[in-house]
Amino acid sequence: MKAVIYTKYGPPEVLRLTDVPKPVQKDNEVLIKIHASTVNRTDCGFRKAEYFAVRVVGGLFKPKNHILGTELAGEVEAIGKDVKTFKIGDKVFGLKCMKFGAHAEYICVKESGSITTMPSNASYEEAAASCEGPWLALTYFKKIKLNKGHKILINGATGSIGSAGVQLAKYFGAEVTATSNTKNMELIKSLGADEVIDHTKEDFTKGAGSYDFIFDAVGKSTFFKCKKLLKPKGIYFSTELGPYSQNIWMALLTSFTGGKKVIFPIPKDTKEDIAFFKKLIEEGKYKAVIDKVYVLDDIIEATKYVDKGEKTGNVVIKIIG
Ligand SMILES: NC(=O)c1ccc[n+]([C@@H]2O[C@H](COP(=O)([O-])OP(=O)(O)OC[C@H]3O[C@@H](n4cnc5c(N)ncnc54)[C@H](OP(=O)(O)O)[C@@H]3O)[C@@H](O)[C@H]2O)c1
Repeated sequence: MKAVIYTKYGPPEVLRLTDVPKPVQKDNEVLIKIHASTVNRTDCGFRKAEYFAVRVVGGLFKPKNHILGTELAGEVEAIGKDVKTFKIGDKVFGLKCMKFGAHAEYICVKESGSITTMPSNASYEEAAASCEGPWLALTYFKKIKLNKGHKILINGATGSIGSAGVQLAKYFGAEVTATSNTKNMELIKSLGADEVIDHTKEDFTKGAGSYDFIFDAVGKSTFFKCKKLLKPKGIYFSTELGPYSQNIWMALLTSFTGGKKVIFPIPKDTKEDIAFFKKLIEEGKYKAVIDKVYVLDDIIEATKYVDKGEKTGNVVIKIIG
């Protein structure tokens, strides 16, 4: 089968489209013919390995897994003998988060893994792009028990996690203020944001406001800059570690204090999360924002684009076998 492999950490050029053996499902796995995947910031992070934490998980000197790709949508081509809940021909989508492997024509996933049947109203491209962003946003929202009446500010609502965060926060009934670039102000309003601040014209940390939560979905601000905008028991959380990994240290320190806090939950994907996103998509309450669609042959070009940190929502990879 065709797959994009990398055997050393580095720039997008370390990626190489080549032929590798087609995987064979174990008794408790399904073999999926992948129709669509994405290039996301997790792929870029594990390709560059700039953070030491990535090397701890992904291999100290070189990557342990040679195929990136965390999100997938495709069709079940074969099932292991113990598999009960999927059948050949099922259209499925989901996440293979820390194990990767979706930048390929085929992947094996455990029956119990974070996959479920596709939403009836979504294309392969839309389904693949509806996994990691909402899952990361949901990880935080579960932790803070986001609910009706809460006021949340989402910085970087134009990213994959941010655009998912706005939609999920509205679903949970929160009042959402979001930051966006000029070109996407209307898009972010259409996702449900009550107020949108143009981050190219205004620094939200210098403005007024009183929020229960500040979600820095692009990790470009800090707790210290945002603190004055938080209510007395308000919580700041970010998708990034922050300068000197301060979000981890501040999460530890503020867990012992009674006032404003930082949280930094470690995300863990589940089948239930993917099933929840399927339900939201089918109810018309969630739609992935897709910026560009590339084919597998153009993975380096797609990766260079994602690396810039300027995409709107998600970048999809179409895999045509
Ligand atoms: N914790 C985790 O497990 C995890 C997993 C995946 C990703 N991440 C991190 O999460 C972050 C977001 O990733 P993503 O894929 O959602 O989005 P992304 O690709 O990083 O976000 C791109 C968007 O963010 C906007 N943006 C850039 N700087 C901004 C700023 N200062 N203020 C407001 N918006 C800004 C960009 O708009 P302009 O270019 O117009 O400014 C662009 O639309 C990344 O830093 C990534 O490394 C963390």
